[in-house]
Amino acid sequence: MEIKRLRLIMATAALPVLASASFTASADEGMWLPSLISERIGDMQEKGFRLSAEDIYSINQASLKDAVVLFGRGCTGEVISPEGLLLTNHHCGYGQIQKHSSVEHDYLRDGFWAMSRNEELPNEGLTVSFLERMEDVTGRILDGYSADMTEQQRDSVVKANSGALIEEATSEGKGLRATVEALYYGNQYFLFLYREYSDIRLVGAPPSAVGKFGGDTDNWIWPRHTGDFSIFRIYADKDNNPASYSPDNVPYTPKKFFRISLEGVHEGDFTFIYGFPGSTREYIMSEGVRYISEVSDPAKIALRTERLGIQKKYMDQSQAVRIQYSSKNASVANAWKKWQGESGGIRRLGTVAAKKAYEARFAEWAEGTVYENILPQLDSLYEALEPYMFALEYYTESAGTVELSSFAMKVSRMMKDSLADTCATQQQRDSAAASFAMELAAAARSFYKDYYMPIDKESFIAVMESFGRDISDGFKPQCFKDALAKYGSVSGWADVIFGESLFTDSTRVLALTAADTAAVSNDPATRFAREFRGWYTTDIYPVCQRLNREITLLYREYMRGQMEFEPGKAFYPDANLTLRVAYGKVMGYSPADGVYYEPQSTLEGIMEKDNPEIFDYNIPQRLRDIYAAKDYGRWAITDSKGNTTVPVCFIATNHTSGGNSGSPVINADGDLMGINFDRVWEGTMSDIVFDPDYCRNICLDIRYVLFIIDKVAGADHLLDEMVFAE
Ligand code: ARG
Ligand code: GLU
Repeated sequence: MEIKRLRLIMATAALPVLASASFTASADEGMWLPSLISERIGDMQEKGFRLSAEDIYSINQASLKDAVVLFGRGCTGEVISPEGLLLTNHHCGYGQIQKHSSVEHDYLRDGFWAMSRNEELPNEGLTVSFLERMEDVTGRILDGYSADMTEQQRDSVVKANSGALIEEATSEGKGLRATVEALYYGNQYFLFLYREYSDIRLVGAPPSAVGKFGGDTDNWIWPRHTGDFSIFRIYADKDNNPASYSPDNVPYTPKKFFRISLEGVHEGDFTFIYGFPGSTREYIMSEGVRYISEVSDPAKIALRTERLGIQKKYMDQSQAVRIQYSSKNASVANAWKKWQGESGGIRRLGTVAAKKAYEARFAEWAEGTVYENILPQLDSLYEALEPYMFALEYYTESAGTVELSSFAMKVSRMMKDSLADTCATQQQRDSAAASFAMELAAAARSFYKDYYMPIDKESFIAVMESFGRDISDGFKPQCFKDALAKYGSVSGWADVIFGESLFTDSTRVLALTAADTAAVSNDPATRFAREFRGWYTTDIYPVCQRLNREITLLYREYMRGQMEFEPGKAFYPDANLTLRVAYGKVMGYSPADGVYYEPQSTLEGIMEKDNPEIFDYNIPQRLRDIYAAKDYGRWAITDSKGNTTVPVCFIATNHTSGGNSGSPVINADGDLMGINFDRVWEGTMSDIVFDPDYCRNICLDIRYVLFIIDKVAGADHLLDEMVFAE
């Protein structure tokens, strides 16, 4: 009785009682908050770490956190010299490298190396953020909240208090940016205060044949040989404060930078990743997991398999089409491969059944408490949500992917915007018409450059036929039924859209004026997009939004319940692009019976894959020459087979996610041993459930980075400003 009363009290209090960390659910699982790392430090040290919690995170002295940055708004980077040199992935710096590239200077193809400070290239819009401090502010955020308030009232309290807190925190100095983030579904709130630098210059990037070696063929795959790195430098004003670009700015002096480890990588070595994982859902109930692994992922995979097959067919037939669709193909393939690992991993682990068993135990425990009804409520909300969520995701992956109709909608919006300026004078009308023509020409140029109609039309037929099969009749929009009745079949419908739309002809598009609204709005490609979008925004999206919100609110309760149910377990909050620590060890894995993958790859593997005929595997001639001459200098190692070679990548058991790209991979002494850039596809369910047998993050060996800089790029002056661990 006493215990039940206590649970009731805890359930209505603002703060969940966070377990003092003693053990985790499974070895190496977890993305821990740096400010609370003292709760994990014992375990870390037991596994080989030789530094202290204060060395990882401190607000009193320089610590490793001061050498880690959020790069842009989706990657991680690390400072590696006293003069603000910064490392991240090639795929994280890709946009910047591309922007500086032209036909005369193709830095994507050939690489780029600034041979002196004044050759370093500024990047408008790029920022890096250092975490100044993070702080549990739950009390302040919920100040003024009482249990009898509605959720809307609670939201207003949270919003008002967050705003005040952010204002207060950012008034302390230059370049400060703050966010308040809900952790554990809003059971806790943390303030994150960043110092954001905005003069970030490109220092170096290897050619794509190194930085993107293996391309999409090897993406999410081990063994891997991608030299996925690029180098930037942070600039500051004369007082070392953030400032926008100025030729007078000077290299930033960091509070802390990573020393480079040349010790090498051995199976079993302790590793730790410090970075910004984007999003995970480790605590959702069985129904949520079942939906992902049995319904959503398989449907999305099937739709993308169709589209990838069609793209491949035409890309194989024509070099021009291959170039047009390589970037589109890459982004379609990236999630496609990840989802396969995710749903396969969940199935292999039996996560749905395991969660159901856990829920049965939870329900028994919860009887007579405030948590009693949570699971049945979640269950019925999931049941109500499923057909809507499925329709929403299906729309995005089918009708939402038709290139021609997306472009038609874009032109239609541009017209509306242009006409929205009700212009009084003839002169103003003329200038509006001229700017519409310019905007249209630019949009058309970028669309038609990479558009191949046969791919779009065949994809339309494939995804819309699937739509007809997979979406139940009750959920199909009227426009879909009408079109089938009118044209007889999806391919008949496609003949009309792709045969009659003016958007299939760029000269007709370029001849449009802002006044041609009727032609655009009655065009079959525009109508298709508009009618489907109308269905989505009125019938589907609002229901999903409402039910998802209710589900999230219940998760706040369920999360707190789970923490009370297992008081001995160490919980970590789901990833939300805030700074985290994940630790583990260098380790191979066995993805299938009879197969074992070693944890380290070498230059030998690059030479095995090298093939001038295959775009993804065509290495720079310079690398072939170096290999032939075995001119490895100080970067040579002897591998397990006795070859003299160069290390390239390695895998480890760190729990990472999207956003950890570019994260420092740190050894037991706090020195840099590599750069994180991917996971193995068999372990991508780690966003939902971590499996120590299959989940491996993929890291670039820092020695390969140095070898490329030194031997391939001839930019060894950069090595002079780095500090190497003894
Ligand atoms: N799979 C990595 C990540 O998810 C790398 C993606 C970029 N590389 C590529 N070949 N598409 O985001
Ligand atoms: N490549 C991913 C990124 O860009 C990291 C891989 C992962 O999802 O773990 O963040």
